[in-house]
Amino acid sequence: MAKTGYVVSNGYVNINKMRELADRFKALFLKHCCDVEVVSTAEIYPVVQNDGSIDIKGLSRSDFILFWDKDVLLAQVLEKAGHRLYNSSKAIQICDNKIYTHNYLSGHNIKMPKTLPMPLVFEGSPYYNEKFLDTAEKEIGYPMIIKEAYGSFGKQVYLCNDRQQVNSLVKKLKYKPYLFQQFISESKGKDIRIFLVGGKVIASMLRENDKDFRANISIGGKMTAITPPDEYIDVAVKAADIIGLDYCGVDLLIGSGGPLLCEVNSNAHFKNIQLCSGIDVAEHFVKYIIGEAV
Ligand SMILES: Nc1ncnc2c1ncn2[C@@H]1O[C@H](COP(=O)(O)OP(=O)(O)O)[C@@H](O)[C@H]1O
Ligand SMILES: [Mg+2]
Repeated sequence: MAKTGYVVSNGYVNINKMRELADRFKALFLKHCCDVEVVSTAEIYPVVQNDGSIDIKGLSRSDFILFWDKDVLLAQVLEKAGHRLYNSSKAIQICDNKIYTHNYLSGHNIKMPKTLPMPLVFEGSPYYNEKFLDTAEKEIGYPMIIKEAYGSFGKQVYLCNDRQQVNSLVKKLKYKPYLFQQFISESKGKDIRIFLVGGKVIASMLRENDKDFRANISIGGKMTAITPPDEYIDVAVKAADIIGLDYCGVDLLIGSGGPLLCEVNSNAHFKNIQLCSGIDVAEHFVKYIIGEAV
C-alpha cells in the first residue's frame, strides 16, 4: 500500500514563504515517488471529545508527518493520535526554548557558555530583581549576552557592556523568558552551523560577520562551506542524539579550547547551506523520512 504523508507548516506567518517551503518538500517527496499532502496549521483542528478521545479534523491517518512548525502542543496531540512526526514534539520543544536546550544538554559533557536563566516572574509581579542581577553579573561578567528563550535570526540576542545596558534591557523584556550568558569573545561574529539528518552530518558552514557579534546570515554574516574539525562534529552529533532529532542545524561557537554549543535548531532553514555548499539538505531529510516510513 502506498505511504500516506503530510507536510505541516505554520498557517499564521508569512503564508507565501511557508507555502513555498512546503511545496518544495512536496516536490522532493514526489521526486522520490512518494505523494504527500501539504497542510497548514490553520487547517488542522485537534478536538478532545467528551469521551476523552482526540478527533483530529483536517488530517486522516498517516505514515509520517514532516512537521515544519514549532507548535509543540499541536505536535504532541498529533503524536497522541498515532502520527509519527519528523521532528518529534519533544525534540522541537527542547530546541525551541534556549533555556530548555541548555538545561537538557547539561550533564552530558558538552561544553557551552556559562548560562543563567532568569527566574519565572508572573505577569503583574515585580520583574526587576537587583539581587538576581548582582548574581548574574558576578557569575557571567561583561560583556554579557542576554538572549530571549524564544528567538531566531539573531534578532532576540543582545550584547550588554555594563549594568546600565542590562537594566534597560531587563525593563524592555519584562516577563519574556530569557537567559544571561557568557560572551565567547574569540567567537565574536563567527560560528559553525552543522546540519544533521538521522544523526549523520550532511553539510556544514562557517558564518562570519566582521560588523556584528552575531554570525547569522540574515544580519550580514558571510557563509563558507567547510568540513569542520572532528571535535565540532562530535558535539553536533552528540547533541542531536541526546535531543532525539531527525533533522537539525547545530550552532557551535569557536572557543579557544574548542567548540561550545550555542543553540540547536530543529527547523533549520536549508536555502543558504544549499547556496554555499551545493548540498540539498532538504532532500536528505525527505529521503530519510521515506526510508524510515517504508
Ligand atoms: N554566548 C555567545 N558568545 C558569543 N556569541 C554568541 C553567543 N550566543 C550567541 N552568539 C552569536 O549570536 C548568534 C545568534 O545566537 P543564537 O543563540 O544562535 O540565536 P538565533 O536563534 O537567533 O540564531 C550566534 O550565531 C552567534 O554568532
Ligand atoms: Mg542561531
